[in-house]
Amino acid sequence: MERTFAIIKPDATAKGFAGAIISRIEKEGFKIVGLKKMHMTKAEAEGFYAVHAARPFFNDLTNFMCSAPCIVMVLEKDGAIKAWRDLMGSTNPKDAAEGTLRKEFGESIDNNATHGSDAPETAAQEIAYFFSQLELV
Ligand code: TYD
Repeated sequence: MERTFAIIKPDATAKGFAGAIISRIEKEGFKIVGLKKMHMTKAEAEGFYAVHAARPFFNDLTNFMCSAPCIVMVLEKDGAIKAWRDLMGSTNPKDAAEGTLRKEFGESIDNNATHGSDAPETAAQEIAYFFSQLELV
């Protein structure tokens, strides 16, 4: 079984969309093996998105991620990484397909409701960044 790392970002958490998103995750057959609500610091957000440090949107992105609480999760399923990215939809909600989470719950490219790892290496790194082994059940 593959694991991926997912976030219900501050915009979707603040708007009360967490329940609907978690319900969808369960309906789509993911097992939630880790879940917690947290409020990232700026430094934690910068560390998490370090790969984007040189991008023009880095400061706005990291400010957004520490602006309010979010929900971080580890999801398990056959092919979880791709399955979760497919369920999220395109980065920009305007381009996201009907039925995807970003289409339904995202507002704009910088307030796009969810995060998902893009490869096995990043999934392992991101899971370890937020969760200890004891928190994964
Ligand atoms: P990226 O890794 O390209 O997208 P994804 O989340 O779909 O894997 O970008 C990371 C986040 O950075 C993205 O979810 C939203 C933000 N972002 C912007 O705010 N502006 C942009 O132009 C891009 C490309 C991303």
